[in-house]
Amino acid sequence: MFYKRIIKPLLFLFSPDWVHAVTVQCGAWLGRWRISRWILKTLFVYAHPALETQVCGVSFKNPIGLAGGFDKNAQLIQTIPCVGFGFMEVGSVTRYAYTGNPQPWSVRLKKDQSLIVNYGLKNEGADILAPRIQRQSRTCPLVVNIAKTNDARIKGDDSVADYIASFRILQDTADMININISCPNTGDGVLLCEDMNLLRKLLDALQAEKPHKPIFLKLKPDISHDTLESIVKLVRDHSCVSGFIISNLTRNRNLLSHANPADIQHYKGGISGKPMQKLSTEMIRDVYGLTQGTYPIIGVGGVFSAQDAYEKIHAGASLIELMTGMIFEGPALIKRINKGLVVLLEKDGFHSITEAVGAEHRK
Ligand SMILES: Cc1cc2nc3c(=O)[nH]c(=O)nc-3n(C[C@H](O)[C@H](O)[C@H](O)COP(=O)(O)O)c2cc1C
Repeated sequence: MFYKRIIKPLLFLFSPDWVHAVTVQCGAWLGRWRISRWILKTLFVYAHPALETQVCGVSFKNPIGLAGGFDKNAQLIQTIPCVGFGFMEVGSVTRYAYTGNPQPWSVRLKKDQSLIVNYGLKNEGADILAPRIQRQSRTCPLVVNIAKTNDARIKGDDSVADYIASFRILQDTADMININISCPNTGDGVLLCEDMNLLRKLLDALQAEKPHKPIFLKLKPDISHDTLESIVKLVRDHSCVSGFIISNLTRNRNLLSHANPADIQHYKGGISGKPMQKLSTEMIRDVYGLTQGTYPIIGVGGVFSAQDAYEKIHAGASLIELMTGMIFEGPALIKRINKGLVVLLEKDGFHSITEAVGAEHRK
């Protein structure tokens, strides 16, 4: 209530790019002190045994994580667990630093509860971020999100080499690795999600690295069932891939119900939040079905409530991530979702999140 009545109207007077930068700075400052971390925890953390889960041998206190793209430069590792998240992503991190696409990096679509996002993988690069991550102690699992450097000259086999170089630098800093093959905002516009030849080369190269951390592939939501089948087939041939993150931003602006297409046509970027909620849930359902639940899925896209998270868990997600929901609803959302999940689990007679994963496929 306090966030929605007072903080949000104030923050929404300013541009989302500015608010994001200031929030990260304030968050980093709050994470520095034991007293502020304690205050945040007292306000925001909710724990319950039914929320505890294990995925790929990693233990989570709850299944709600911060999605990739909020903590681009590993400044919030101390803070994020204190606002109630069970895990977090850092990145996307790329081999070489990138200062970002031309601004605005994000545009708020209030009525659609969505953002148009066009940062274009802005980050300080793997060489700076790996030691910064390693210097910090962690109290929740960390997923490092690796993408290809946003430079149109790096393509084909060079893009595979770019991913692998980042992977070598970052693997030991993380509990899990997210290989982001689906950023919609890069200079070359090439998505490995769509180029099966290149994706095979990337997975061959990753396999040759003999990874010792679980690797998840982050997919985009705008792909056909056939392409999804091809990706799953490729993944089955590469034991280095442990699971999927579903999904990245959508390019489908027809999903917006309020924004006038003419008003936003000059803004480049992918769409987050409510409009992609059903799309990502459908895709989770599809991948869970195609793999018969043998690969863990991290579900992300338009989670604004416990019910939204529960739908994705029922469809097949073992863990959930969110970002736009927190921007619109405030940080107390994470506690609300966790509390709500416990109620929903009890109502359905489940003792844990794990029991509810993919439940709709067993009906
Ligand atoms: C401001 C912003 C920046 C993002 N940056 C990244 C990024 O760098 N890497 C990435 O994999 N996804 C990025 N995403 C996509 C999110 O991780 C997530 O997949 C998407 O926003 C859907 O979740 P949401 O509806 O809860 O926001 C970004 C999203 C937003 C809103």
